[in-house]
Amino acid sequence: MSRERVSARIQQWVRPEIRVLNAYHVPPASGMIKLDAMENPYRWPDEMIAAWLEKLREASINRYPDPQASIVREGLRREMGVAASHDILLGNGSDEIIQMLALLVSARGRCILAPEPGFVMYRMIATMTGLDYLGIPLDANFDLDLDAMLAAVQQHQPALIFLALPNNPTGNLFSVDRVRAVIEAAEGLVILDEAYTAFTDADHLSFAEDYDNVLIMRTLSKVGLAGLRLGLLIGDAAWLAEIEKIRLPYNINVLTQLSAEFALENFQVIRQQTAAIRAERERLISELRNITTLQVWPSEANFVLVRTPEGRAREVFEALKLRNILVKCLDGSHPQLRDCLRLTVGEPTDSDQLLAALKDALAVVNS
Ligand SMILES: Cc1ncc(COP(=O)(O)O)c(C=O)c1O
Repeated sequence: MSRERVSARIQQWVRPEIRVLNAYHVPPASGMIKLDAMENPYRWPDEMIAAWLEKLREASINRYPDPQASIVREGLRREMGVAASHDILLGNGSDEIIQMLALLVSARGRCILAPEPGFVMYRMIATMTGLDYLGIPLDANFDLDLDAMLAAVQQHQPALIFLALPNNPTGNLFSVDRVRAVIEAAEGLVILDEAYTAFTDADHLSFAEDYDNVLIMRTLSKVGLAGLRLGLLIGDAAWLAEIEKIRLPYNINVLTQLSAEFALENFQVIRQQTAAIRAERERLISELRNITTLQVWPSEANFVLVRTPEGRAREVFEALKLRNILVKCLDGSHPQLRDCLRLTVGEPTDSDQLLAALKDALAVVNS
């Protein structure tokens, strides 16, 4: 087979905007202390794992799954206190829900708007689905720049606006009055992305009651079920019925459904784990603040954003890697993230190793 012919065909057929994209990169992490992807570090207790495996014996792997995943949706409704007036739609992670939403509205000249720095998939999915993308810089406090947001909304009337509450990678919530002002100015759908809801007391479910253009997106990824891939969209049944037409049949597989049902029946364990992560976040932040060369932002999520001394983020990142600790280096990804690292909150022993490695790395770096 001729390489040249393949590449000519790719030139001919693959959309130009896809050709210039880079596939979402996941660095190898085998054997490392993995503090790069906002995962819950805790496994389930042994007896719970045994009970889960027992439940999996029921799995009819030869059959298609329940297309509506009704038991899972009922469990989520119960655990998340979703009003009877609202419906729930499931995705293979919230990434898939973002894609469904984009497909729902995609048409030439339409756009997705999101504040930046923010979650990278909003931009990637806009590009994949043929939508324009507008990233509006956050203000110096990483809050919404309301004037800029309102001007962009008025000028472009985005089909979709994503507001992550708390925001990734900055870790903060946006001011509620600014969020409301954006929602009220928008003609299109506003998705309040509560991926990190388990780590904050803030809850925006009522926004979906108050506004007919608001849907709430959540995920089980950050509370310990990243491997299952289960995200959810909560909101008015009429909106969700439209999105249902985009959802591929059986997108939530048999093993995910059974495992999620089980997890929801045992959600007290997950709540204990997220409470432990929240407590550890506070300890980690206060210890990080003792490293005087680091700028440390507060966090309402299960990660902490820090800024290293100027020009040093990459070196510190590599030094941590040599100590078997993988974090996320954000330097170069956005001007407001210059010299920044994002540290996922792990177990206390992970934090101890991270802190020791950071102190070493910064001492070396500063010498
Ligand atoms: C703000 C935000 N939304 C959505 C997601 C996607 O989560 P998942 O596809 O695992 O449900 C992430 C993951 O990092 C995120 O940070």
